[in-house]
Amino acid sequence: MPIVSAVVAAALGTTLVVTATANAATTLGAAAAQSGRYFGTAVAAQKLGDSTYVNLLNTEFNMVTAENEMKWDATEPNRGQFNYSGGDRILNHALNNGKRVRGHALLWYQQQPRWAQGLSGSDLRQAAINHVTQVATHYKGKIYAWDVVNEAFADGNSGGRRDSNLQRTGNDWIEAAFRAARAADPGAKLCYNDYNTDSINPKSTGIYNMVRDFKARGVPIDCVGMQSHLSNNAPSDYQANLQRFADLGVEVQITELDISGSNQANAYGAVTRACMAVTRCAGITVWGIRDSDSWRGGENPLLFTSSGAKKPAYTSVLNALNAGGPGPTTTTTTTTTTTTTTTTDPVPPGDCTASVSLNQWNGGFVATVKVTAGSSALNGWRVTTTLSGGSVTGSWGANGSGTSGTVNWTNVDYNGSVPAGQSTEFGFQGSGSGSGLNPTCSTR
Ligand code: XIL
Repeated sequence: MPIVSAVVAAALGTTLVVTATANAATTLGAAAAQSGRYFGTAVAAQKLGDSTYVNLLNTEFNMVTAENEMKWDATEPNRGQFNYSGGDRILNHALNNGKRVRGHALLWYQQQPRWAQGLSGSDLRQAAINHVTQVATHYKGKIYAWDVVNEAFADGNSGGRRDSNLQRTGNDWIEAAFRAARAADPGAKLCYNDYNTDSINPKSTGIYNMVRDFKARGVPIDCVGMQSHLSNNAPSDYQANLQRFADLGVEVQITELDISGSNQANAYGAVTRACMAVTRCAGITVWGIRDSDSWRGGENPLLFTSSGAKKPAYTSVLNALNAGGPGPTTTTTTTTTTTTTTTTDPVPPGDCTASVSLNQWNGGFVATVKVTAGSSALNGWRVTTTLSGGSVTGSWGANGSGTSGTVNWTNVDYNGSVPAGQSTEFGFQGSGSGSGLNPTCSTR
């Protein structure tokens, strides 16, 4: 490959290009992986027989989302009768080709089966939670992240929820769905996913407040999906908006990116650079491969032309991915160093206790740790756990110093203050064994 590049570049008289890209990855997935991120696409099952499509999919992407096949209408066409044929085809293609899968979407006000559209109240609530449990159980252990709830917030200035049959079952429907999903597949990251959330606006702030509340109350949520169906530009505060969510202790994922308009290549570059600049931005998914695959018919918002050629937007994205940025992998290393230094300082014996409740299954676990203040209030706490063999793959409500062996967990902003005798919680999930964690607590 480098030889071919050199020949082409020399013929064009631009040897400089060769120097600049000598060590750069040449596919989107490989370029994203350099910083511990992924680059994905939406996939339609009926296109898996199209060789141009499949070649691009297999070469360029390392994450896959089913465009429609895992939605409620597709997976539960009749109440209690499940059909996973399309979803399984996509999942198997992805897993057989070394790609991971984002599950999309367990509950949404659109693309509901007709029988669910006609339900309301506790009957609908029960059907919805059963749907979450059944589908997440079917795919247990195979999904990297689920969009548990899709598009539940209203557009405009209210900052509140969108009216829907699901919303009318009670405001707690979202947390009920997240708890059911966690119970069914503790290894999957659980995301809330929405659109028009690309800047700091009333809708994204409404979602931000919900996530903050979930984290404070221990409702399991790991990530926020920004669909990012954009026209011509990324908003100027796109990165700042991602960062404020990341600062809540959740990952951000760009889940359905497509950008129309003549400024497309620049805008794609800006979105990619924003993700690369936010440590907890885990990856980017575009909503289709070629322009002809897009749901935005005629707008040509994707990275490949209808005949499968790379567009200028493709190059912008690839260059931005290759330019690097602190990724999830890099950060872990940094945090380890910092906290190891801290723990060598003598820490006064703390007036707090910690206990763990463990959900262990074959190959993985979720640990929920309860931190309880003693006779005086806590103003910052540290919990030390010991992992014998297992390793941490994700966490919420605390910053961990590493992923294996002795891990020190320190409070995040919202849960450092604990009144005397009261408790707060944080948790983490991991692969392998979570037994013998033996948490101890001290003050900071
Ligand atoms: C779209 C699909 O791309 C279309 O094929 C389908 O007809 C409608 O849904 N937000 C989402 C996606 O979360 O599921 C939608 O996908 C696009 C908007």
